[in-house]
Amino acid sequence: MIIAIANQKGGVAKTTSTIALGGLLAEQGSCLIVDFDPQGNLTTGLGVRIQAGQVTAYEVLTNRNQSAATAIIETPSGIKLLPADISLTTGEKQILTVADNSRILRKKLNPLREEFDHILIDCPPSLGMLTLNALMAADMVLIPVQCQFLL
Ligand SMILES: Nc1ncnc2c1ncn2[C@@H]1O[C@H](COP(=O)(O)OP(=O)(O)O)[C@@H](O)[C@H]1O
Ligand SMILES: [Mg+2]
Repeated sequence: MIIAIANQKGGVAKTTSTIALGGLLAEQGSCLIVDFDPQGNLTTGLGVRIQAGQVTAYEVLTNRNQSAATAIIETPSGIKLLPADISLTTGEKQILTVADNSRILRKKLNPLREEFDHILIDCPPSLGMLTLNALMAADMVLIPVQCQFLL
């Protein structure tokens, strides 16, 4: 099952929920968490520093020959992660002119369904092409909300 963790608002615990839920699901079966926010908080939050030349969500999104499997790493805590960094911002712009550009992530993650019981996608705080790709890839959406008036 693929679950997108999304909300247009920032700071509502999308990333925190992805780490917590991912850790729990990884104890019970196989789980992959996907950082799809150019801020890369999921990646850095799990103690991962992107090295020069490392395959990230950017390459998976923009290079049709780059499979998602080639980007997956095991974090120090043992959780499987498809990492991201600021380059994903450029990726979102690059796919604007690509045909069927809302289904790129879906096509890249579908082959991993056999390998993982759960795949969680941490979305950016916006409703752009990255979140749209995550929603198109997902079977379910988890929307963390903070019950407060806008501050
Ligand atoms: N249940 C919670 N209670 C209090 N603070 C939280 C909780 N969950 C997350 N936070 C804090 O809220 C902030 C934003 O969370 P984050 O997961 O980065 O949000 P988002 O990914 O939606 O932008 C972080 O500083 C995080 O530590
Ligand atoms: Mg976040």
